[in-house]
Amino acid sequence: MNEEKERFLVTGAAGCIGAWSIRLLLDEGVDVIASDVSEDLRRFRLLSHPHTDEVSFVPLDVTATTEVARIVQEFDITHIVHLAGLQVPFCAANPPLGAMVNVVGNVNVFDAVRAADRRIGLAYASSAAVFGASSAYSGGVVGDVSPVMPDTHYGVYKVANEGTARVYSLNNGIGSIGLRPFIVYGPGRDQGMTSDATKAILAAVQGEPFKFKFGGNMLLTYAPDCARAFIESARAAAGSGDALVLNVPGRRVGVAQLVALIEKLLPEAAGLLSWETKPISAPALLSSPALGDVIGPVANTSLEDGVGATIEHFRRAVADGVLSSSPS
Ligand SMILES: NC(=O)c1ccc[n+]([C@@H]2O[C@H](COP(=O)([O-])OP(=O)(O)OC[C@H]3O[C@@H](n4cnc5c(N)ncnc54)[C@H](O)[C@@H]3O)[C@@H](O)[C@H]2O)c1
Repeated sequence: MNEEKERFLVTGAAGCIGAWSIRLLLDEGVDVIASDVSEDLRRFRLLSHPHTDEVSFVPLDVTATTEVARIVQEFDITHIVHLAGLQVPFCAANPPLGAMVNVVGNVNVFDAVRAADRRIGLAYASSAAVFGASSAYSGGVVGDVSPVMPDTHYGVYKVANEGTARVYSLNNGIGSIGLRPFIVYGPGRDQGMTSDATKAILAAVQGEPFKFKFGGNMLLTYAPDCARAFIESARAAAGSGDALVLNVPGRRVGVAQLVALIEKLLPEAAGLLSWETKPISAPALLSSPALGDVIGPVANTSLEDGVGATIEHFRRAVADGVLSSSPS
């Protein structure tokens, strides 16, 4: 048993990685406060959450500085998984709002830890979007310390978050781990530029056509694996004053190969899925040598297992009518 009882705060808990984080923490029996600006918990229902009634939900807009600090204090938070954010298309459509949520929101979380004046394990979402196009890196492979060259507002905001973490470590001794996933897929992933992998699986299950907005290679991380990495990173950060930034592993696959896998697992979907040829602008492969040293064994579900489980999950959700309230 831990000497200190853990109490996690998850921001952006109504989102894809957030809903999975809440589910994994409750499965472990950990005390957790789920917070989000949105009170729409449809992703909790989609994950067939066995403990939906046990979720302590607290509305929280991370741009509200004093509210973030109040919640960290009032609930005696020991660990934070900070996931609240606006994804690439939303930042492109409204850069000032993107900066408020993704940059100021992140500063607010770090400052709430500073104000609490006790050790809190903090993991926050950076992104592979801090890197530039694959052609900028030798062999297209990007390591933990490769130079950042973002080409979107979103990527620039994530670079700022990593800098914020470094300065709070230098000035205040606050330890943190920023994780850089590339493309997360699985139940609950329904928005953002790279959600096409999951949307294609859902369309195939529903017998509908779907066209990827990009082609080329991707690095896909199964959503529960990603949530697990955030949880274990928050635990690892609790014992340190350093600001680490680490890539998240996944499975490399071309869009054409992914479509072939979906059609293999779901033969009735043959011919429904297509793609644009223009490759997604991103590094070809994130190498993640340090994450396992820092958090221990890192889950990296095979594509066949992850896509298969996602198909099964969507089949059940469609049969149970749970997907009816999802956005397109
Ligand atoms: N999904 C991926 O492939 C991926 C890859 C790299 C990084 N990330 C990062 O991981 C984090 C979580 O991603 P996700 O896929 O779960 O995203 P998501 O879009 O599913 O969820 C984000 C959540 O943040 C909430 N939010 C937005 N503005 C807020 C605010 N002002 N205050 C509080 N909550 C707010 C939204 O309501 C939403 O529930 C994000 O920061 C994202 O940038 C995701």
